[in-house]
Amino acid sequence: MKILVHGASGRMGKELIKIIEDGYKSFSLSGAITRDIDNFQGQADCIIDFSNHMATENLVSYAVKKKLPLVIATTGHNEDEFNTINDASKIIPIFMSANMSLGIALLVELAKKAVLTMPDADIEIIEKHHNRKLDAPSGTALMLANEIKKVKPELEFNLGRSGYEKRDRNEIGIHAIRLGNIVGEHEVIIGTDTQTITLKHQAHSRSLFAEGALVAAEFLISQDAGLYSMHDMIG
Ligand SMILES: NC(=O)c1ccc[n+]([C@@H]2O[C@H](COP(=O)([O-])OP(=O)(O)OC[C@H]3O[C@@H](n4cnc5c(N)ncnc54)[C@H](OP(=O)(O)O)[C@@H]3O)[C@@H](O)[C@H]2O)c1
Repeated sequence: MKILVHGASGRMGKELIKIIEDGYKSFSLSGAITRDIDNFQGQADCIIDFSNHMATENLVSYAVKKKLPLVIATTGHNEDEFNTINDASKIIPIFMSANMSLGIALLVELAKKAVLTMPDADIEIIEKHHNRKLDAPSGTALMLANEIKKVKPELEFNLGRSGYEKRDRNEIGIHAIRLGNIVGEHEVIIGTDTQTITLKHQAHSRSLFAEGALVAAEFLISQDAGLYSMHDMIG
């Protein structure tokens, strides 16, 4: 399967190219594009995008013009850009996820199941990242909390609990730890008075996002037009 990488000069683009060139499954590289996708004349089966949300308009119109499935791993889209993606997904298959890790997708599903099975449990999320990360809590921790809220809508988020107050039974605590060189850890703790379940995902390398994007591309090329997420792939 021939992959056109968009955002090729970036950290994730380089990681993706390396994995493909190292012979991951049966993938091959059809092109490595940074900003000038319109000039690409080669053949591809799917585009994988790890670039910048500001490229959306151009990228999406190219994919529609060439009728190419598109995996969007880039994050930070505004409403207009998301609408552009949504409109295009009526014509071509598009896969979009702010976290391409299959393990995180599985963590979401397991956490939702645990929360449904133990409806009276307290739920806390702890995330750990390297000391250079700017945003806290991580987008993935918020995504986990939002997914859990879908099965227990009464939950309210308590970001970085502090002060002198008892825990509310309908809160989900979200805590951010920053130290050293940790690639990324997310832990969902679900506990009652009598038992605790801890679900934990540890990322060892950024390449897990690149691998996840390739698995998404594999899934996407046999789909009809539509907008797909991790849930569609592993749900
Ligand atoms: N979904 C996931 O699991 C996941 C995981 C990791 C990262 N990401 C996201 O993937 C994206 C890339 O991350 P990264 O760490 O690789 O970033 P990066 O190192 O900053 O690379 C960004 C890439 O996008 C290109 N670019 C920047 N602005 C552009 C524009 N306006 N039009 C077209 N191309 C543009 C850059 O080209 P130049 O070299 O010319 O600037 C570069 O190739 C980010 O949105 C990040 O949040 C997602």
